[in-house]
Amino acid sequence: MIQDRARVGETEYGYFDEAAREYVITRPDTPTPWLNYIGEGRYGGIVSNTGGGFSFDRDPRNRRVTRYRYNSVPVDQPGRYVYLRDQETGEYWSPTAAPVRRDLEAYECRHGTAYTRIASRYRGIEAEVLYFVPLGPADEPAPCELWRLRLRNAGPGPRRLRSFSYAEFSFPDAFNDLTNLDWAQHIVFSSYGDGGVIRVGTKFKPLSFFFGSSQTPAGYTCDREEFVGRGRDLANPIVVETGVPTNAPSPRGNSVGSLVHDFVLEPGEQRELVYVMGATEAPGEIGRVVGRFSDPAEVEAALRAVREDWAAYLARFSVETPDADTNAMLNFWNPVQCRTTLYWSRFVSGYETGLGRGMGTRDSGQDTLGTMHAVPDRARRMLTRIWTMQFADGHTWHQFFPLTGEGGPGLAAEYPEWPQWFSDDHLWLVIAVCAYLRETADFDYLEETVPYVDRAEETVWRHILRAVDFSLANLGPHGLPRSGFSDWNDTLNVDHGSGRAESVWTAMQFCRAMLDLAELCTRIDRLEEAGRFGSLHVSMAEAINRSCWDGGWYLRAFDDDGLPIGVAGAEHQAIDLIAQSWSVIGEVATPERADAAMAAAHDRLNTRFGLALIWPAYDGGDDRVRGISTFVPGAKENGGIFCHANTWSIVAAAMLGRGDQAYAYYRQILPLARTDSDVYKAEPYVYAQNVCGPAHPSFGLARNAWLTGTAAWTYVAATQWILGIRPTYEGLRIAPAIPASWPGFTAHREFRGTAYEIDVRREGPGNAVALVVDGAAVEGDVVPLPPAGTSTVSVRVSLR
Ligand code: GLC
Repeated sequence: MIQDRARVGETEYGYFDEAAREYVITRPDTPTPWLNYIGEGRYGGIVSNTGGGFSFDRDPRNRRVTRYRYNSVPVDQPGRYVYLRDQETGEYWSPTAAPVRRDLEAYECRHGTAYTRIASRYRGIEAEVLYFVPLGPADEPAPCELWRLRLRNAGPGPRRLRSFSYAEFSFPDAFNDLTNLDWAQHIVFSSYGDGGVIRVGTKFKPLSFFFGSSQTPAGYTCDREEFVGRGRDLANPIVVETGVPTNAPSPRGNSVGSLVHDFVLEPGEQRELVYVMGATEAPGEIGRVVGRFSDPAEVEAALRAVREDWAAYLARFSVETPDADTNAMLNFWNPVQCRTTLYWSRFVSGYETGLGRGMGTRDSGQDTLGTMHAVPDRARRMLTRIWTMQFADGHTWHQFFPLTGEGGPGLAAEYPEWPQWFSDDHLWLVIAVCAYLRETADFDYLEETVPYVDRAEETVWRHILRAVDFSLANLGPHGLPRSGFSDWNDTLNVDHGSGRAESVWTAMQFCRAMLDLAELCTRIDRLEEAGRFGSLHVSMAEAINRSCWDGGWYLRAFDDDGLPIGVAGAEHQAIDLIAQSWSVIGEVATPERADAAMAAAHDRLNTRFGLALIWPAYDGGDDRVRGISTFVPGAKENGGIFCHANTWSIVAAAMLGRGDQAYAYYRQILPLARTDSDVYKAEPYVYAQNVCGPAHPSFGLARNAWLTGTAAWTYVAATQWILGIRPTYEGLRIAPAIPASWPGFTAHREFRGTAYEIDVRREGPGNAVALVVDGAAVEGDVVPLPPAGTSTVSVRVSLR
């Protein structure tokens, strides 16, 4: 109904193919590289719509397999390339459109679930390259990725073709690879040997990379400089231009995986070749792995297994609403992005290089929220991993490297005289554990023991208590949590060593955490503690209402001198979005204040592309807030449309029962609804972290797609708050806040082993719910837990 385009998500550059569940990119010249991820959070990497991208094994900093030249011109290089050369005419091209940019006669890239397929036609040759990582056990000794090349002669006469692969290997420590060139390049070497495989390694580490294929190569090149030739680049490498490989090892310098294969294709004939690239400490395994994928049936079966794994993940929840874009996001791209953020946090993307940040404790804590209904074990493991980053005083490291376990304070390290902790990190864990328990009822989790960074192990429950204690031990003059280096907003740096600056928003987050804990304690019969957490909520909410209401909306913070930030009349940051939405989410505001705060935010911050984070933006460095004021007006946290923060306004609007407003906020940041790719620029199928705000000349431009808390939180906002399907300890709650114009929706939701078939019909203008469960009327809005073993429950919901 809402859909006015022929195909969902259709822009000048592509569309979403609902039947195939693939975003189809129809032109190679997208405004930015439009990316996909391959792999299951271990071995894998990034693939762009022109074959650009790179690979790594579990850790993009410490086990980088191939290189990527970030921030380069041309953008997006190098990648997993194949060159094709017509052996009669000498003409050559790239079937993935890069790096040899010929005018392909046909081109199409299909991004699916952890696989990408790029197909093209040039001078009568149809080519398709498919990239993916086969599933494997967690301890797979030689994890690998596959590139399957298919060629077909669509022309009238026979053709003689020669193919050349190109993968550019990194030194495994990607930081050294960039910064210590003489050293790294005197260390890495490669050669061709057994089974037609190129092996890349060093003398001092057991790790090696390999590049093989399903057919014995006709030649090979191991050295990048020799492959490219002097005065040339990847668009016209000498080896491809002449058609003659070096057939020599690379004793030093830059190693590449370039294998040569010859094809004679009769008219209509099709041939297939599979490249196998991977990393291993067990060189004896390489032959087995390459051999396995020399069988086309194995490749096909491995692809099927990847697709089935994702299909099973996606099948836990599906919905049919009147909005086709919403359906495509909720049934496919949003959960795909949620799983990807669970895998990679903010570590490695088209914007995050995989060198610096590692996984964020706050980020990954929030990422679990979008996946715990579908992969609860994985979400639980992630939470446990993050608890190991907690100190005995209750705060956590801000970030960590998943493979080495090295933790750190992130950006705070640059300012050692400022607090080295963040006021929100540990509280996200509390909120996430409560969400996990509501979803799974896995209360044993609270008894699992986990070590601290600086102390022996204790139960998860004790970790939670220490998290609460940390906040309580660090209150400022108004009784609010001290801000630390920052709160959720990394760039709001208000404590410059005074120890007195406070975060109003963290106080609201603390309120939410206390409510969640009180509810949990009631459920597990820890009534005294339930009472304590309930009182902590009340006293913190009182402190906020006493000192942080400026007459029209909630303040955002207090600086070193106790002066407020986010107050009416201020020249900059007079109002901050998240202090308004969280006054509702933390159940801090009275109904009158909630109305006023939400209206103030709407009036001052809303735009057609979403809600700006602050208004007015800073225009030059401001010593009170530092980071945020370093951006130009309208960028990122400085008055940009921070999509992650928009999701909380959706939740708050839905909590207030305002279905129209919640949906309007949802829809205005929905990437598939953005048809203006030349303005938006980023991938239209996944959320971006930020969109330039109204104060910016590039208003509407999106940046930092894929790895953002927007993924998990829009998923929660849409499924649990707009559609209203929320796990509770007592059963599945169905309390929709949908637009008045929607006649209803249907949904399939798996919850604790039972499938709920939900049919919501609007029978009146309001949100009052009448439930009929398996034919019988039920009081309230919670579908009671069915007897163990029940496979399906059918729920009919009337909205009145
Ligand atoms: C980035 C960071 C995240 C932070 C947000 C707001 O997305 O990864 O940790 O909360 O910015 O500053």
